Amino acid sequence: MKRFAVILGGASVLALAVAANVAADTEDFPPLQTLGPPPIPADNPMSEEIVELGEMLFWDGRLSGNGTMPCSACHLPDVGWGNGTPISFGYSGNQHWRNSQTILNSAYYTRLFWDGSQTSLEAQASAAAGGAVGGNGDGSMMEMRLRFVPDYVERFNDVFGTDYPRVSQAWNAIAAFQRTVVTDAEQVPFDRYLAGDQGAMSDSALRGMELFNGEAGCIACHNGALGSNQQFYNTGVPTPPEFNEFPEFQLVMLWETYAKGASEELYRTVTDDMGLYHVTKRPGDIGSFRTPSVRELVWTAPYMHNGVFATLEDVVAFYNAGGGEEQTAELEPLNLDDQQMADLVAFLEALSMDEPLLMEPPEIPETATWAEFDQ
Ligand code: HEC
Ligand code: HEC
Repeated sequence: MKRFAVILGGASVLALAVAANVAADTEDFPPLQTLGPPPIPADNPMSEEIVELGEMLFWDGRLSGNGTMPCSACHLPDVGWGNGTPISFGYSGNQHWRNSQTILNSAYYTRLFWDGSQTSLEAQASAAAGGAVGGNGDGSMMEMRLRFVPDYVERFNDVFGTDYPRVSQAWNAIAAFQRTVVTDAEQVPFDRYLAGDQGAMSDSALRGMELFNGEAGCIACHNGALGSNQQFYNTGVPTPPEFNEFPEFQLVMLWETYAKGASEELYRTVTDDMGLYHVTKRPGDIGSFRTPSVRELVWTAPYMHNGVFATLEDVVAFYNAGGGEEQTAELEPLNLDDQQMADLVAFLEALSMDEPLLMEPPEIPETATWAEFDQ
């Protein structure tokens, strides 16, 4: 359809040649394309009210153990909805062990977290607020806190029809809010280019697109509208220095390994995050992580499950060298020259919005005594 439109529109021969090239190189993989609206589960329908409630809850520390660790503590709009550090801080007093992922476009994944251990935003929110190095909240305590906020009681009643808030409803509302934190295609050079604006991407980015789809082979994993096939690979991402230098990192990594049920032997010998293995317990999955989206990277540094790369140049240099040691992804050195590496970076940049998606924190309603409820 799109190709026809280009032909009928009388676009340049060059554009047709590029399109034909891309098609030839990428026929085995779903092409990068403009994101449609995110899928909405039948049992959690969208409405203005649920999104507004979810936005408040995303910023509300009541949904954490000590009342001070809302989702927004680690997913800040002005650092790309992650927290901007290589490895996230954790619940008070703890380190986390992984890079805080962006929630931008998380609505499109069916496998969430770096190891894909959750399959819906609703379940993910519960795991995030309850996890010991995340929100560390107890479900019944968090529910009780919501029950003591007259404004919430009214809003939950409005949206869900129950007399009092239930904590599972809070996860539904947060998930609904996150389904609105998505890319606006009109702001993305690549999407404008696909929509027919031939000048939307620089020549360098256009060359980078050809490399991405062809010689550099990125499309094999970063494909489809999201730029992720949601599969898992061990690409040999190096261990960050923090893991070797600070006991806080080592103890949390060991604890996670223990808590996720690894064998005693692995627990005694492990020196790095085992990724997908924690979910499947298949030895071949050790060190495999979910392919992340290549959208919005300009706003979401640093990169990889452990944030070991600060810039897109670092990431491209990693792939140019054929990935890391002890990988199972079978990446080969790309032998790109400096210009080609710069072109690839320019293309990755063209997959991000021109401006970051910012949002002001909403006002959080007050807690009341029960005597104050009916006033
Ligand atoms: C203490 C910091 C912290 C807090 C608090 C926190 N997160 Fe996260 N979040 C992270 C980290 C780190 C990851 C990656 C964890 C992993 O892969 O194991 C993550 C991953 C995610 C993802 C997965 C994105 C993807 O691409 O798969 C979503 C969605 C998310 N968080 C939403 C939330 C929500 C909703 C809350 C509040 C209920 C929350 N987070 C609270 C640090 C945090
Ligand atoms: C074999 C599948 C595969 C191929 C091929 C591949 N990637 Fe990746 N990519 C991944 C996986 C898996 C990760 C996450 C690795 C980790 O964190 O351990 C990743 C991470 C990234 C990231 C970091 C994103 C983030 O949010 O942290 C970027 C950028 C990236 N890849 C770009 C590229 C480029 C450019 C190419 C081509 C030169 C490429 N990838 C080829 C699977 C692949």
